[in-house]
Amino acid sequence: MNADGRTRLNQTPEWTALAKHREELADARLRELFAADPARGTGYTLRVGDLYIDYSKHLVTDETLRLLRELAAATDVFGLRDAMFRGEKINVTENRAVLHTALRAPRDAVIEVDGENVVPAVHAVLDKMSDFAGRVRSGAWTGHTGRRIRNVVNIGIGGSDLGPAMAYEVLRSFTDRDLTVRFVSNVDGADLHEATRDLDPAETLFIIASKTFTTIETITNATSARKWLLAALADEKAVARHFVALSTNTEKVSEFGIDPDNMFEFWDWVGGRYSYDSAIGLSLMIAIGPDRFREMLDGFRLIDDHFRTAPAESNAPLLLGLLGIWYGNFHDAQSHAVLPYSHYLSRFTAYLQQLDMESNGKYVARDGKRVDWQTGPVVWGTPGTNGQHAYYQLIHQGTKLIPADFIGFAEPVAELSGELKAQHDLLMANFFAQTQALAFGKTADEVRAEGVPEELVPHKTFQGDRPTTTILARELTPSVLGQLVALYEHKVFVQGAVWNIDSFDQWGVELGKVLAKRVEPALTEGAEVPGLDASTKALVAEYRKLRGR
Ligand code: F6P
Repeated sequence: MNADGRTRLNQTPEWTALAKHREELADARLRELFAADPARGTGYTLRVGDLYIDYSKHLVTDETLRLLRELAAATDVFGLRDAMFRGEKINVTENRAVLHTALRAPRDAVIEVDGENVVPAVHAVLDKMSDFAGRVRSGAWTGHTGRRIRNVVNIGIGGSDLGPAMAYEVLRSFTDRDLTVRFVSNVDGADLHEATRDLDPAETLFIIASKTFTTIETITNATSARKWLLAALADEKAVARHFVALSTNTEKVSEFGIDPDNMFEFWDWVGGRYSYDSAIGLSLMIAIGPDRFREMLDGFRLIDDHFRTAPAESNAPLLLGLLGIWYGNFHDAQSHAVLPYSHYLSRFTAYLQQLDMESNGKYVARDGKRVDWQTGPVVWGTPGTNGQHAYYQLIHQGTKLIPADFIGFAEPVAELSGELKAQHDLLMANFFAQTQALAFGKTADEVRAEGVPEELVPHKTFQGDRPTTTILARELTPSVLGQLVALYEHKVFVQGAVWNIDSFDQWGVELGKVLAKRVEPALTEGAEVPGLDASTKALVAEYRKLRGR
């Protein structure tokens, strides 16, 4: 029993029942599961909003799903969900509410934090963003010299970069093609250099995105960007026309020299990795326009409502979260691949890496004790079909079980025409072929029947039983993007709730930040850093030698 009155997860009867069930299912083969149930291909599916979700190619039976739902009930996933939507402070280690769902709540909703309805403030910021984005897009907001803004550079890192950068790529075909929009995150000066080297400062707007406005990478890049601007425009007043801030920290924004009127606010109850539908999405809103941005928020809301109200049997985030638990905790899977069959989703998995790995990469439970069960997986992947010619070999025939999500669209984006449009069927033929091959493989007899020499038969045989979820939508729209992101947000929530970890803090990133600050003077000035280990000391000495210091 825990201090919080909960039985340790892996000592609950529901966990034990799943472990036993896993042994019973040890020999289950997808070929047999499909043969036994001709309706499986349509029965193990869900339709939520614009998403068609097929989970038939998983190593599960009705009994597996029932037992997983019992685990969710025993760990009160829906209780924690309701507490989150109500604005309770479920981020226990930071004593904060977790209310990214309020960012897409309708204008007339009432969601209270400490007795105050936060929805009017959310819409006030959205309105301010819409007004500003409209003025940049129309040319009414000009740079210091009166020239129109043609370039937008977002400077931020982690949640203040990955979300808008990902969404900008996803929705590229909805963007104003006359605007150049770039994202700078890395403190490596090469990032800012490459992003600005061909831009005209008089036509460039910098958006400094930082929840805390203390993140060293962002403040360093923002300071360099200001110097770059002032080197060309030579007037401090130019900063007000070329710099805006997205933050929760007004004081630090003013200290940096950005007028608080040019600051777009969000709040401590929005986690960085859950923030791109807040003010952090300003660069995206400028690119796609306020109406499209609001369509995206509608997509998020659709899944929020589904997650809040759908019964366990048909609740998509619950199902996807539980399937991940089935593999991570009962099949020893260490990673989870997300494989979008859309070039526009090229940054989607990178975005999900932060969402999932920063949320659920924890070995301490909410009660402060170390977990003795696996928590978040390694999330990885790149768009198909490229991955097929790189690492799919290991997914098909390697020794590791890698559950994967395949995401695809029936229609190519509207901009494509002619031959490029026609290529879409080939893309999607690969999409369907891969999940088929992964699930059902190819038996030795099938290989032999092709006349393959006996010594090659084992090499050409595919065992199959590689589990996948297929998520299919008609087309990639702003709303569909919102639906996909909310689906994953809530999936991550479900898993954190079952594992009894705080999915909304990120203490694990702090140590590296502190050590970087301590080591920097050793690099620049050769300063003695007390307590530096022998390896790092030697590396620093080698670095200084290479730099001629
Ligand atoms: O260091 C990790 C982190 O705090 C992330 O959680 C966050 O998204 C990122 O840094 C950037 O933080 P900020 O928006 O405060 O600059």
